[in-house]
Amino acid sequence: MKTVLITGAASGIGLATARLLSQQMRVVLADRNYEGAERAALEIERGGGRASAVEVDVSDARSVARMAEKTQRELGDVHALFCNAGVSPKAPFEEWRESDWDTVIDTHIKGVFLCTRAFLPQMCARREGAIVTTGSDYSIVGHRHGAGYAAAKAGIYALTKSIALEFAPFNIRCNSVGPGPIETPLLRKGMADAQWAAHKAARGERVPMGRLGQPEEVASVVAFLLSERAAYITGQIVHPNGGSVMW
Ligand SMILES: NC(=O)c1ccc[n+]([C@@H]2O[C@H](COP(=O)([O-])OP(=O)(O)OC[C@H]3O[C@@H](n4cnc5c(N)ncnc54)[C@H](O)[C@@H]3O)[C@@H](O)[C@H]2O)c1
Repeated sequence: MKTVLITGAASGIGLATARLLSQQMRVVLADRNYEGAERAALEIERGGGRASAVEVDVSDARSVARMAEKTQRELGDVHALFCNAGVSPKAPFEEWRESDWDTVIDTHIKGVFLCTRAFLPQMCARREGAIVTTGSDYSIVGHRHGAGYAAAKAGIYALTKSIALEFAPFNIRCNSVGPGPIETPLLRKGMADAQWAAHKAARGERVPMGRLGQPEEVASVVAFLLSERAAYITGQIVHPNGGSVMW
């Protein structure tokens, strides 16, 4: 049975992808929220899937190395990788603190660099591998009050294409999924029920399809890109976004 490792798998898009892929692969749920990842892994196992949890801070090289070593030791090679962990601090441009900037850039760009670097050597050795990263519509159109986030997500696209180019000769594909507004804790950002209902309605109206997306609607795209059905697709960005951004 092949193994997929998913970062940011304790919640939202990563969790939906873990649930979906667990029907055909062994899933490693990697997250800095270890309790959440472990709870989700247990739920998947109870449903008949194969899953385990591992703690990681994707922005920290030592933590990523520990995650890769533990996974290799306990489960062997990772065949597919979904680099998805993310945070989304928001503030008007002049109020962005340096620490928030560092967190968002390190989580997204450095996180993808560290996680892909950790698993690419074994993929090269097998001459087979599939990677998906998570971008965003905001990488294309910018993000008012989210400059660091938009910059980080745009960086992920350049990194994804560079990995795709460099590792295509090893039969390793690297693509990105760029969601529009998806109903997850990241979008809700701790809003109370009434505020969230109003925000959801207003945000949904701005989407051509008239609603927010669901994490499962991103998961199905990721599953496709990681599968053999996408065997000739690399360096591409697919946007499950209800038509919000057409690019
Ligand atoms: N929800 C949206 O509208 C939306 C839109 C476009 C892109 N995205 C992107 O999708 C990805 C998943 O977001 P989501 O909406 O599912 O959010 P979420 O908050 O539900 O899940 C994010 C997960 O990432 C984990 N995480 C954060 N920093 C980490 C780190 N340093 N190391 C390890 N784990 C870490 C969190 O613990 C959490 O479990 C993110 O990259 C996000 O930027 C989300």
